Amino acid sequence: MANDRRRLIVVSNRGPVVHARDETGGIEARRGGGGLVTALDSLAEHLDVTWVASAISDGDRLVAAEARGEPVEERSRAGSPYLLRLVEHNPAEYARYYNVVANPMLWFVQHRLWDLARAPCVDEQFREAWEQGYALVNRAFADAVCEELEETPEAAVFFHDYHLYLAPRFVRERRPDATLAHFVHIPWVSPDYWGVLPADMRRAVHDGLLANDLVGFHTERWRRTFVNAAVRLLDAERADSAVAYDGRRTTTVARPISVDPSEFDALGVDEAVLACQADLRQGRPERLIVRVDRTDPSKNILRGLRAFELLLARHPEHRGRVRLLALLHPSRQEIPEYAAYTAEIESAAADLNDRAGAVAVDLRLADDFPLSIAAYKEYDVLFVNAIFDGLNLVAKEGPLVNEHDGVLVLSENAGAAEELAPWALVVNPFDVGDQAEALHRALAMSVDERRGRLDGLRTHIREHDASRWVQGVLADLDRIIPARRG
Ligand code: F6P
Repeated sequence: MANDRRRLIVVSNRGPVVHARDETGGIEARRGGGGLVTALDSLAEHLDVTWVASAISDGDRLVAAEARGEPVEERSRAGSPYLLRLVEHNPAEYARYYNVVANPMLWFVQHRLWDLARAPCVDEQFREAWEQGYALVNRAFADAVCEELEETPEAAVFFHDYHLYLAPRFVRERRPDATLAHFVHIPWVSPDYWGVLPADMRRAVHDGLLANDLVGFHTERWRRTFVNAAVRLLDAERADSAVAYDGRRTTTVARPISVDPSEFDALGVDEAVLACQADLRQGRPERLIVRVDRTDPSKNILRGLRAFELLLARHPEHRGRVRLLALLHPSRQEIPEYAAYTAEIESAAADLNDRAGAVAVDLRLADDFPLSIAAYKEYDVLFVNAIFDGLNLVAKEGPLVNEHDGVLVLSENAGAAEELAPWALVVNPFDVGDQAEALHRALAMSVDERRGRLDGLRTHIREHDASRWVQGVLADLDRIIPARRG
């Protein structure tokens, strides 16, 4: 793979950049948020990449219309050129795809978030959203990929996530020889939980993924669950770590994604971050517990507040000395379940502060990246109590820049626990007593133990960084491509 630059078509709903108008009225490309973009963006250093993504912002749509479906040139953070092809969708179809099927339905199924006594109700409207939204948007992605494959038939295609489960099958039907890989960034669940979806839909999800040559997950746990589900739902056959189905073989791998430590080294001394850190220090309580999340029910923010209040009740010595700083990025607010969850968080935090008679919880609802990095530097405890999480990059980012020998309290259901458990305090995300005691243990821990744990985390994260993930993915592709081409 390393000797000649191979071509790769990366496909994801959200692209690496968002286009917006600048002060002069022109269009500028701003880097999209999230660690996923960082890891994928570095693929451009190694390969000739064409990235296919939805045109989401108004600026994206302007760029897409101007380009008339052709890719435009962009540059990765390190300056390597790549092509970006923005796919324009019909707004009503896109709303059904994103706001009804992908979120909340697939997201809630795969994070086991449904309150099954009440929801979901899979009715005609949902079927319409599946057929006239999810399937059509996946079809549009498949069309764009097939057009790219016309130009570069040797390119491998690399799909991402739960937005695109049907697209690989649509491509495979037209391109039986294409090399297709898919990375699933969220957990996988058992066939019983997939039973929430009608039989044709849950089969289509697994059938679509098995149209790939390779399917990757962040953990062995999700990988194994996927293989078991495919065997049961599709009568597929297990063949070591592969699945044999419909005359083909799909290899499955577990490769936890990671962060770029050099990016965090630079962020640690970034001016905007230092300014935020100075602000935080001014009003800093004696001890600081930090959480950084999207306002997503999977992040378990409400139970986190309960656990924090329980900590103060059981261990009164922390009252007035410890604060929870919750930096929450409002996410997917057009979806009623998300808007309701955000409102619940706000009122639960206000109630908690009323009862405490002080600002015990400092809740900030914003997408403020420099502030998040500053909080990473300042925490005594980093609190990650997700109900379920594919990986959780916060658990890898915080330790890289922390300046307080901070302790990581980590949910046993975050994929990152598969790697980081030896140095974290691992908690049951449903058990608020367990979380309260872990917070107490972290706050009471000796400096030596805290430092030892933080060093262990840092060493692991630096050794298992984003470039190692990219190299691993490229090696996986290397293994399947010769096997397929004979
Ligand atoms: O894998 C989950 C994911 O796609 C992450 O990349 C990201 O954190 C999040 O979901 C973004 O969601 P959205 O695109 O809906 O804002």
